Amino acid sequence: SLPKSVKIVEVGPRDGLQNEAQTISADVKIELVNRLSAAGFPNVEAASFVSPKWVPQMATSADVMAGIARRPGTIYSALVPNMKGFEAALAAGVDEIVIFAAASEAFSQKNINCSIAESIARFRDVAAEAKRNNLRLRGALSCAFGCPYQGAVSADSVADVVQRLRDLGCDEIDIADTIGVATPRHVQAVMQRAAQEFPIAQLSGHFHDTYGQALANIYASLEVGITIYHASVAGLGGCPYAKGATGNVATEDVLYMMKGLGIETGIELDAVVDAGQFISHHLGRKSAGRAGNALAAK
Ligand code: HMG
Ligand code: MG
Repeated sequence: SLPKSVKIVEVGPRDGLQNEAQTISADVKIELVNRLSAAGFPNVEAASFVSPKWVPQMATSADVMAGIARRPGTIYSALVPNMKGFEAALAAGVDEIVIFAAASEAFSQKNINCSIAESIARFRDVAAEAKRNNLRLRGALSCAFGCPYQGAVSADSVADVVQRLRDLGCDEIDIADTIGVATPRHVQAVMQRAAQEFPIAQLSGHFHDTYGQALANIYASLEVGITIYHASVAGLGGCPYAKGATGNVATEDVLYMMKGLGIETGIELDAVVDAGQFISHHLGRKSAGRAGNALAAK
């Protein structure tokens, strides 16, 4: 049987916007985050304290964190690759630190310029400081179903990095399909393998929709007991180090499906549709959220 409720983490302001070619002002990002938190998300990934040489779009992260209206009940998270990023995230008042590793060596090198083992060593101080400052700690695991540079990724290599992230003290671990290649049975196998190493209630599914499989993969994950999902308003996104990867699954589509399944999210779909239309209008293109566009046209 499917879960009665799920937690949806909105990643549009970070994962969604990080790859945009046009510079988006902090004011627009602030308005987007505010609209999303007002819609009731328990967690909004709002920022990324990475090197601005690597991801220029995220250079305004401190301004975004300083400008948003903090809604009680919403956790604001940010990606942090090293201690420099941690200090900035701490100063900005981030609630949850996201360390990000990969299940593939090749992607680790391209994305954060070090091996998996080096990344875990680097995250050790970040994790310890996050705990010392009473911040939540989340671990993102990229390329859990396939890698743009290396191809196939085994469930055992996912399990191996899940163990290492668990040992750093992560409260939650994201199993991410960075390039959107996974299909439902594959997803179930990897989720079940990961759940041998880490409590399934703290595992999340982070699906990109590059091959149109994301909603099917979420449904497949519901069947094996995953209750946390990442989604991006208007289907924004793509990773700068994963060429051709499109956005995360659109939040509007996920909420529409959950509603139909009778699964509680605590989020107001109409407000998310409006937020999706707001950012799409600003970017000058049609939203990739199918349910969002259909609902907006009504
Ligand atoms: P590096 O070049 O090896 O590091 O990059 P470095 O220590 O030599 O630093 C280079 C320069 O960046 C230096 O400046 C540092 O000060 C600066 P310079 O001395 O040349 O003027 N720097 C920083 N500045 C601000 N904040 C920082 C920071 N760190 C260094 N935190 C590094 C290594 C990890 C920094 C770099 O590779 C990097 O920032 N990578 C981030 C890549 C990224 O953000 N990728 C996208 C996010 S992952 C993703 O989207 C996938 C996910 O959604 C899940 C999924 O879908 O799979 C999570
Ligand atoms: Mg992603």
